[in-house]
Amino acid sequence: MSSNSINNIRVAVLPGDGIGKEITRGAMRVLKTTAGIFGRGVDFSEGEIGGAAIDRYGNPFPEETRDICNNSDAVFLGAVGGPKWDDVPSDIRPERGLLKLRKELGVYANLRPVKIYNSLRDKSPLKESIIGDSLDILIVRELTGGIYFGEKGRREDSAFDILSYSQEEIERIAHKAFTAASKRSKKVTSVDKANVLESSKLWREVVERVAKDYPGVSYEHLYVDNAAMQLVVNPGQFDVILTSNMFGDILSDEASVITGSIGMLPSASIGNNLGLYEPIHGSAPDIAGKGIVNPIAAILSGAMMLRHSFHMEEGAAMIEEAVDNTLKRGYRTIDIHSESTEKIGTEEMISRIIAEIEKIGRR
Ligand code: IPM
Ligand code: MN
Repeated sequence: MSSNSINNIRVAVLPGDGIGKEITRGAMRVLKTTAGIFGRGVDFSEGEIGGAAIDRYGNPFPEETRDICNNSDAVFLGAVGGPKWDDVPSDIRPERGLLKLRKELGVYANLRPVKIYNSLRDKSPLKESIIGDSLDILIVRELTGGIYFGEKGRREDSAFDILSYSQEEIERIAHKAFTAASKRSKKVTSVDKANVLESSKLWREVVERVAKDYPGVSYEHLYVDNAAMQLVVNPGQFDVILTSNMFGDILSDEASVITGSIGMLPSASIGNNLGLYEPIHGSAPDIAGKGIVNPIAAILSGAMMLRHSFHMEEGAAMIEEAVDNTLKRGYRTIDIHSESTEKIGTEEMISRIIAEIEKIGRR
């Protein structure tokens, strides 16, 4: 296939900072192999974001990067941030670049699937009896509103961050959660703090209204403090968790470690147009460049890209099966390693997963 075929998928690649570079390289190799099995080429266009973009352009989300994204069909992001940029003014911090990107792409729905692999059960900090037979939760986090994007500032001796949600913002994310639940176990748990926050009261009202459109899906409301507790005492009760930007950020880190490592969790951010795909973990500057980081969250984010942006469900499932097989064979990066498994580095994990994909492709 020629490299400019119109059949190619066009991906903007933003590795970012720290381990972002290592894991992105791996995820792109996996994407290329998998797309190739289905006769599709991949055109990658690489751009800078976060600290790397501050170093080069003095801006964490420069025009150049915006153009690259707008000329692609999907965006892949590694991770942003690091101690090097801790002292830059807050309006040009690396994280601000990521927030601008999300806002610009309009990706208001962040899907974070939390699945426990059988072969990693012993790595979960939870007891076997609490994990139960299986665990499969989808966190649907609102991503372009709320306290992350409200007015913020300083007064003489105080600081403020405004938390506000419009009905429309709540409505559209609620629809995403109920639609997802209708294709899964048909239960939505909406998480808020309606006993204290006015914006949460509105959240509840709107969710109640949206729920009426999905008679086959049951739902309940939980306060966020209770939800945080329920996640570790009875995670099996959850199917889809629907929540706001900041609560979703916090709960997804908590939920991720139940699976054994935050290095396992992918995400897809979708809206009306371009999708954005990124692992939920950060840039882990302390282990960057050592070749030991777990590339699986990034690789699984690539699978989500095939599924949500390119309707390549079979390719997505192939990557997921390859990850599962590789873990079953006992290959582990350091974060998920245990006594009876073989400890391998980032590159070997990537190659082993690719070998599994090729094997499945030949079936
Ligand atoms: C995440 C991250 C980001 C967030 C940071 C880096 C701005 O923690 O994707 O979960 O808070 O959304
Ligand atoms: Mn986070």
